[in-house]
Amino acid sequence: MTAARNEYLATMGIPVWVLRREESPEHDETSITERDWSALADEVRACTNCGLHRGRIQTVFGVGNKEADLLIIGEAPGAEEDRSGEPFVGRAGQLLDAMLRAIELSREKVYIANILKCRPPNNRDPRAEEATACTPYLERQIRLLQPKVILALGRIAAQWLLQSDAPIGRLRGQKLGFGNPETPLVASYHPAYLLRSPAAKAKAWEDLKLVRRILRAAI
Ligand code: URA
Repeated sequence: MTAARNEYLATMGIPVWVLRREESPEHDETSITERDWSALADEVRACTNCGLHRGRIQTVFGVGNKEADLLIIGEAPGAEEDRSGEPFVGRAGQLLDAMLRAIELSREKVYIANILKCRPPNNRDPRAEEATACTPYLERQIRLLQPKVILALGRIAAQWLLQSDAPIGRLRGQKLGFGNPETPLVASYHPAYLLRSPAAKAKAWEDLKLVRRILRAAI
């Protein structure tokens, strides 16, 4: 509509006045947030804060909607994620997409990140010093995103975010919290585990429904 109007005015030789971006507070706020996201992504791309940078093809920053209400946090990139630069692109990622569809969500509507931005060798578990070095990046993502709910996938992500050593079977299935100010957090099974243990899918479905209830109550 605006383009057609501008073309019409131009044809008539009438100058088109456009509000400068910096004069609009609304745009200003958006661009500050965008600058923060892109500065953070640049920092992560250049990060050498732990030894994992030596083995990576690239960092895996996170993907999705920067206005998302739901933030999904996994463990660390695997081989396919290291190659593609995107979290959860392998078989576990396909199952995650199906899980999201079950609660009428999609990869485009949520934000997906990991505790670690670099792949640990041979997909070993993250070490505490690696998670400690990487967590400030995740915390900055959370501050920028301000999600209504965090879904922590798998033992590693759940235990790290909750600073607990309770098994995932005890952490899942309830509304917990992360950070200060506290964001509601639900822990559930990792999709890679669900591929190996399909019987656990019923419990994961309960967790997803809890996420959906929290989202609906928060909006
Ligand atoms: N598993 C994870 O926890 N994260 C990924 O990005 C891929 C697999």
